[in-house]
Order: sequence, then structure tokens, then C-alpha cells
Amino acid sequence: MLECGTGIYHSGAGQGRTSRPVYKALAKKLYIKTYGCQMNMYDSARMADVLAPLGYGPAEDPAEADMVILNTCHIREKASEKVFSELGRLKATRDARREAGDDMIIAVAGCVAQAEGAEILRRQPAVDIVLGPQTYHRLPEMVARATRARDAKDPKRRGVGVLDTEFPAESKFDHLPESGEAPGVSAFLAIQEGCDKFCTFCVVPYTRGAEFSRPVAQIEAEARRLVAQGAREITLLGQNVNAWHGFASDGATWGLGRLVRHLAERVDGLLRIRYTTSHPRDMDDDLIAAHAEVPQLMPFLHLPVQSGSDRILEAMNRQHKVERFREIIARLRDARPDIALSSDFIVGFPGESDADFEATMRLVEEIKFAQTFSFKYSARPGTPAALMENQVPEAVKDARLRRLQDVLNRQQIDFNRATIGRVVPVLLEKPGKHAGQLVGRSPYLQAVHTQADASEIGRVVDLRIDGIGHFSLSGTRASLRPKTDTHFQQEAVA
Ligand code: 5AD
Ligand code: SF4
Repeated sequence: MLECGTGIYHSGAGQGRTSRPVYKALAKKLYIKTYGCQMNMYDSARMADVLAPLGYGPAEDPAEADMVILNTCHIREKASEKVFSELGRLKATRDARREAGDDMIIAVAGCVAQAEGAEILRRQPAVDIVLGPQTYHRLPEMVARATRARDAKDPKRRGVGVLDTEFPAESKFDHLPESGEAPGVSAFLAIQEGCDKFCTFCVVPYTRGAEFSRPVAQIEAEARRLVAQGAREITLLGQNVNAWHGFASDGATWGLGRLVRHLAERVDGLLRIRYTTSHPRDMDDDLIAAHAEVPQLMPFLHLPVQSGSDRILEAMNRQHKVERFREIIARLRDARPDIALSSDFIVGFPGESDADFEATMRLVEEIKFAQTFSFKYSARPGTPAALMENQVPEAVKDARLRRLQDVLNRQQIDFNRATIGRVVPVLLEKPGKHAGQLVGRSPYLQAVHTQADASEIGRVVDLRIDGIGHFSLSGTRASLRPKTDTHFQQEAVA
């Protein structure tokens, strides 16, 4: 399962992409609002790619957009309600545009679209297109159908919304155009999608469908293209990324460890590799060994455990015990002693007793995480846990989440503090808030600010960490550093 953030506004494509000059000459503008995980950010960028040949370039604001796509997330809480209120605002924007003689196509994509389907068209008739995560390669056809419906003379056909939430037999990945947009220094590459695990709290197996792994050649080609376009770091994405098992040209099926080694060896200029999100059940020996052997594989792992109680893990259908999680962490730390760990936790899952929660607290104290995401259990319609009778009262969930987050926040601060005075290689990604400042990432995914010239974007520089803020660190150039950081001496510098 991919970690989730807040809704992210961006124009055109994901991750602060810059538009190609050709767009400036084109009339139509596209605005995509992305909610949720990195997979949605990746999908938003692909939707922008699919629509580019139709003349759509990025809009700065929905008010100037000829098409707006809400790429939605259904993982927790009142996701659908948020989408409907956003749609109400968009309808007003569209009406204002119509009064001024313009128009706007409104599309709802992503997991809420998959889950709610035709209900969206019924509740908000201003919506022109509803599409699921597996059908966005067909967007040009949907746009044509929506435009025909909008202009139809026959009142029965006029304004009838287009719905495409199938799970088509053909993979969308075989039909996506090559991206013409610069991906940025740190790029996402989806290698796997969907989930067959059916954790009892989770909507993903229903909204994203069955597990699917892209073949090696397709992944390698996309990685090469991203690097040729300026990427220096690639994060391999999947709802269950370490369940990836792709066909290779040698006729064999590879696992993720082998893919990581292959990309590290074969894609020149690729300085850093990450992958997310993993499941403890699929953490195999080869992948753990890759952490020891592949210098480009960054020492950071997001491995959701959800709970420290075997009873709750079983009720969640997580298919592993707490001991297995401990064992994986111990082996990872053997392989790569400085590895930083991240995880997801759910408190207040149905039936979670005080003793179960205390077991989670003990696990957290024992492992020590660098970064985490923790949530109150939220009943998702259609999932088995939503029907369980022993739901935990909201007040109890609130209190548990507060206690857990207090400890997790302290651990994150401790982890960041421990880097003060150390020299770490930072991949410079983009301008910071202040003039003359750039921001990059440490191997442990910490944001680090430093004074540097924009021409250094895309380079790995050694910084001595000398400050710590709420969300980021700051560092100064350590050109005369003593070489104590042996692990990183192998890392290539652009
Ligand atoms: N309630 C609360 N948290 C959830 N997650 C997934 N489904 C739910 C739910 N119904 C959390 C899990 C997952 C992360 C992406 O979101 O911790 O790993
Ligand atoms: Fe992750 Fe479980 Fe959801 Fe699959 S069902 S995406 S393994 S939380």
C-alpha cells in the first residue's frame, strides 16, 4: 500500500514538472488535482501525457482550465464527500467560464471514481467523465465522447456523462505515450499495480484490482528515458511493490531484488534507487541482500506493520506475525546497519484492546522508526472490517493515536538530531524558499536545505548537517570532510 499525503494541487503533470515550450503555443489547458499516494501522482503525470497530443498543456488555476481532472483517493475517511464538495466548486467555476463564452470538461479519476462509478454522474451532473485507475489510456476517446455529448442536438444525449471504470484485459502500460515532460531529479516509475492480499480494512484490492507486474524491458526502457530526461533518482512504485515479479528477456520471472540490481548496473546516470510500498510477506532474501550489495539502493525502507499485536494482525488478514516483522528488520539492519525505517500504523482496528495497543507501543519503542504514518481506523464501505461488530469508540482511537504519535514524533526528531554533525550525500533537487538556496534529499529521505547555485540541481554533494527545523535539515558544503562515511564513498557523483 502506498503511503498517503494530503491533496496536492499541480498543473498539468505531477511533481513540479515543467511544460515543454510547444505547449505555450497550444490553446487548451489542463488542471489536475491529485489526492493521496505517489501512485496517484504518477497516474496524474501519465494522464497529462495521454492528453498532450490533443493539445492540452498545464493550467496554473482551474479557472483558466479547459479540462479539470480530480484524481481521487478512497483510502480513508470521507473521501467521497470531499470530492463532491470540490465538484460543487468546480461546477460554479465551469458555469462562470460558460458565461464568459468558454467551457470546461470535468473528469473524476482514481479510486473514488472506481468505487462510486455512476453514482458520481447521478449526484453531480456537471461531471462529464468518470474513469478508473486502469482506463486512463483511453482518455482521448472519453474526451471526444464527452465533447460530442455536450454538443449533441438530441436532448436525450446532450450532457450524458461518460463512464469507464472497467478493468480492461489489455494493460494501460502498453498504451501510454512516451512522456515528453521533464520528470525532475527524483522521478516515480510504476512497476506494479493492484493487490491480491485483501487486508480486511483496505479498499485497494477493490479499486485498483488484481496484482499486475510490468515486464523488465518496459521498466528498463522507462528508467532510461527518465534518466535521459534528467532524473537521477527513481522510486519504483507499486501498491505491493516487493510482490513485483516481472518477465525478463531471458524467459525467467525476476523478483524485485534482481530488478534493482539490473537497473543499477544497466542504467547509466541513475544514482539512486528507492522502492515503495512493501509488504512484510514479500520481503525476500534477495531483496534484503540487495540492500547490502547495491550502492545505488538507498538505505531507507517503508515497511508497513499496522499493529504490534498478532491477534490484530490476524483480524486484519496481514498474513504474518509480529515476530516475522522483527526478524526482517534485524536482517535488514545486518545487511545495511544505517538503514532508516518507516512504517504505517492503524490504531483502533475493530476489537483492538488496550493490551493489543500496548503491544504496538512496545514494538515501536523497540524498533525505533525514522519516519511514520499513523491513522485511526476508518471503516471503508465494502470491506470486511467495516462489518465487524466490535468497533472501537472514536474517543479511544483519538487517545491511542495521540499516544502513538507522541512516541513516533519523538523518534523522528531523535533520528534527525542524530544526523547533526554528520556528513551526508545530498541529491540536490530544486530551489528552496530563499534566494540562493537549494533543497535536496539525504539517503534517508530527509529534506536538506543548503546554499548552492541552481546549476548544481541533479548533483549529489556532501553536506555537513548543522541545523534541524520542523520538516527539514540544513547543511553546509563539506569539501574537506574526513571520509568516515564509508558506505557512501561508492555513490557516484553526477
Ligand atoms: N483505515 C485507516 N487506515 C487505513 N489505511 C488503509 N486503509 C485504512 C483504513 N481503512 C492505512 C494503512 C496503509 C496506509 C496507506 O493507509 O496503514 O498502509
Ligand atoms: Fe496494502 Fe493490504 Fe491494502 Fe493490499 S490490501 S494495498 S497489502 S493494505
